[in-house]
Amino acid sequence: MSFIKNMVQKRKSERMPDWHFKFMNLLFHLIDFIYPYIDKRVKKFGIKPGMTVVDYGCGPGRYSTRFARLVGRHGKVFAVDIHELAVEAVKEKIDKYGLTNIEAVLASGYDSSLPDTIADVVCAIDMFFMVKKPAEFLAELKRITKNSGCLVIDDGHQPRSVTKANILQSGHWDIIEETRDHLKCKPNYT
Ligand SMILES: C[S@@+](CC[C@H](N)C(=O)[O-])C[C@H]1O[C@@H](n2cnc3c(N)ncnc32)[C@H](O)[C@@H]1O
Repeated sequence: MSFIKNMVQKRKSERMPDWHFKFMNLLFHLIDFIYPYIDKRVKKFGIKPGMTVVDYGCGPGRYSTRFARLVGRHGKVFAVDIHELAVEAVKEKIDKYGLTNIEAVLASGYDSSLPDTIADVVCAIDMFFMVKKPAEFLAELKRITKNSGCLVIDDGHQPRSVTKANILQSGHWDIIEETRDHLKCKPNYT
């Protein structure tokens, strides 16, 4: 765990090298085979049919495909990542499973290029620990979230105290629920 954290901290950019992305993808396949926990986990995110969900830092789209099932055909999922291989992997899943309600989006820096207030739920799973400028990142997440929407974010490879401090110091979000697994936040407009 600290090996991953050290590796991420040493990097200048949040975009990981291609070999790292491929290795991570392989590891995810293994983890999902040995311990298939995602379906159970996403039930607690508050995602409902018809919603628009943004999977921010989607990686190969393990969560995006689950979100697509939960929002149904009247909903929409935007799978956003800074890595081209992530966008490619999500597009492959879209083709393979004939998914009509997911769009893969390549972000540039902290700009997702999504319209303002588009999302009912933004999920940032296993990725916040990679973000070098949390306040700028959280501002972008707030920009794309509806006033009534929420952010589901987890710690990844960092202590909960760091996650919470970064969220609260940004001034963009209020924490409204905390579990062992994740934090739920509402946009702060005060
Ligand atoms: C450890 S992976 C997790 C992927 C996915 N959320 C999951 O849990 O299966 C982290 C992902 O976040 C992406 N990422 C890191 N910083 C990002 C940023 N600033 N904007 C968008 N994506 C980012 C990485 O490229 C990588 O694909």
